[in-house]
Amino acid sequence: MRSYVERAKDFIAEVFPYLEKMTPWDVEEQIEVFNSQYHRAVKVNHGIARIALITSDYVVKFDYDPDEVADVGGGHAEITMYANAEREGMAHLFAQITAYKYNDREFYIMPLVRGVGSGRWYAEHYMNPQERDFCRKYKLSDLHSNNYGFVKGHVCLIDYACCLPESTSEYDDYLEMQSSPHTWMDSWS
Ligand SMILES: Nc1ncnc2c1ncn2[C@@H]1O[C@H](COP(=O)(O)OP(=O)(O)OP(=O)(O)O)[C@@H](O)[C@H]1O
Ligand SMILES: [Mg+2]
Repeated sequence: MRSYVERAKDFIAEVFPYLEKMTPWDVEEQIEVFNSQYHRAVKVNHGIARIALITSDYVVKFDYDPDEVADVGGGHAEITMYANAEREGMAHLFAQITAYKYNDREFYIMPLVRGVGSGRWYAEHYMNPQERDFCRKYKLSDLHSNNYGFVKGHVCLIDYACCLPESTSEYDDYLEMQSSPHTWMDSWS
């Protein structure tokens, strides 16, 4: 059987004519047309920074505007992060990402990860101390429920583009808030 990356590349070639304008507001409509012509059931998920085209076993993402991703981090940031993770033996924490340039546009292919949105806490909650340290070291932020799922019972990040060198980890803020309930409850009164 061909790999999910090979099949995703074929999909990109097929879907590209439907995405020609690549404007967020007509992608959904275009994918509906694609689905009916190709008898597919691809879903569209609009994130803040990019669009994800979701199939039953892989996901293809592209930035709305590759030049406007500085704050939230684009697909390119994920390629770098994945390389860091591989180098430090942490690749299991991340959905593998493959960049694929087609007609001068950059697409990013990932395996479909299940259980996205099912976790109750920040992703760090499900990590061991070494894994958490890795996230701190690379200033990974924004690891809320919709940005990770589970693979073989272990947390797996699917959106790791956002690292904010200036700020502390949201998870640390959260822990701090939990350990001093009076402080934040007081702020409501
Ligand atoms: N590998 C994946 N497996 C399963 N679902 C995915 C995958 N990648 C993306 N998705 C779905 O698509 C959504 C948008 O993707 P992603 O989080 O990467 O975009 P984003 O623009 O960075 O989102 P946001 O900034 O809103 O967090 C995710 O919240 C998730 O529901
Ligand atoms: Mg996201």
